[in-house]
Amino acid sequence: MAAAPGWEPGVRSLASTYLAPRVPELCCGVPAGRAVVYLMVFVIVALVLLLVLLSMVWPPDSAWSPWWRTSRRVARIQCRLAGVSSTDVVYDLGCGDGGALVVAAREFGASGVGVEIDPLRATVARARAALGGVSDRIRIRRANFFDVDLTPATVVVMYLVPPALKRLRRKIQSELRPGTRVVTYVYQIDLPLLASDERERVYVYEVQ
Ligand SMILES: C[S@@+](CC[C@H](N)C(=O)[O-])C[C@H]1O[C@@H](n2cnc3c(N)ncnc32)[C@H](O)[C@@H]1O
Repeated sequence: MAAAPGWEPGVRSLASTYLAPRVPELCCGVPAGRAVVYLMVFVIVALVLLLVLLSMVWPPDSAWSPWWRTSRRVARIQCRLAGVSSTDVVYDLGCGDGGALVVAAREFGASGVGVEIDPLRATVARARAALGGVSDRIRIRRANFFDVDLTPATVVVMYLVPPALKRLRRKIQSELRPGTRVVTYVYQIDLPLLASDERERVYVYEVQ
């Protein structure tokens, strides 16, 4: 049924008042709603890329340092140089994704404890230990290494920046038994040096 001619202008004005704002406007040829979604995705991707870039220059003892890790090849060199064997209990302070510990357990028969403050990396380390079939010999603790008792360790491995190594030195000397080997990668710690591979920047010390 057609509306009476006198009603038409009123209906049009009602439509323009209530319906027009709901019709998506165009923004650069894209409906406004979709443009907002594109913008949000762009901002999120840009933020993630920024974090990844920052993480590459962040100090390696920071929870924002995912790309500073020990390769399997270097982990083998560390174990060989420190004489890691099945009788050893290896503590990796700031174990990251647990890769170095998995090498010590799988290839050298050691047992070990990984201490990692970052929950995501601690979870990844547990998963790697399980996938590597060594979760019965490796325990990953999500904790601050300054709060962890180091007395059971026979070998301590660290890939940390000098300020962290300097602070840990006191703890190492007071908690570790004489003869315990301490392995650092890239940076050095002020302890009696036992062996080193200068080219690979692997240093092994012995607690006196
Ligand atoms: C350079 S990464 C080394 C990771 C692993 N050890 C490797 O060599 O592949 C240093 C790690 O130490 C962790 N970390 C830093 N401060 C820590 C703390 N106070 N307690 C436990 N973990 C810490 C960081 O989250 C990071 O995963």
